[in-house]
Amino acid sequence: MIALACDHGGFELMQDVKKHLDSAGYEYKDFGTFSSESCDYPVIAAPAAEAISAGNCDKGIFICGTGIGMSIAANKTCGIRAALCTDCYMAEMTRSHNDANVLVLGGRVTKPDVGIKIVETFLTTDFSNEEKHCRRVAMLNQLDAART
Ligand code: RB5
Repeated sequence: MIALACDHGGFELMQDVKKHLDSAGYEYKDFGTFSSESCDYPVIAAPAAEAISAGNCDKGIFICGTGIGMSIAANKTCGIRAALCTDCYMAEMTRSHNDANVLVLGGRVTKPDVGIKIVETFLTTDFSNEEKHCRRVAMLNQLDAART
């Protein structure tokens, strides 16, 4: 189950992402926003990030105007490794090396066709499970544990 979250800056791109997820048969839970009316990205990001942290969703796709606000907000929640990606290489590396569980896109930065390719790369790339990457992700988890 994929948690979706966007603000007004990401609303348009999210509609394209949802069309792709529908046609490819992915299941998702949509945490909004549900219109292009201005809203506050931290309010939308928090429950979606919590759903991943709690294990109710396994991945997330978050979108705001630049992707920066959603990245900052998502990474405040323990267990979240959110990565802002602007190309498929970044999406592949952040799954393979960081075991990122949230893909963040910038709706005012990334064109829909590129965004869909990034989404597909993120969703189909597995974590490498290499020892050095496991060690580094474990260190991130320790940082999480230290702040609770
Ligand atoms: C909204 O105008 C914009 O600030 C927001 O979508 C995002 O880009 C923040 O980082």
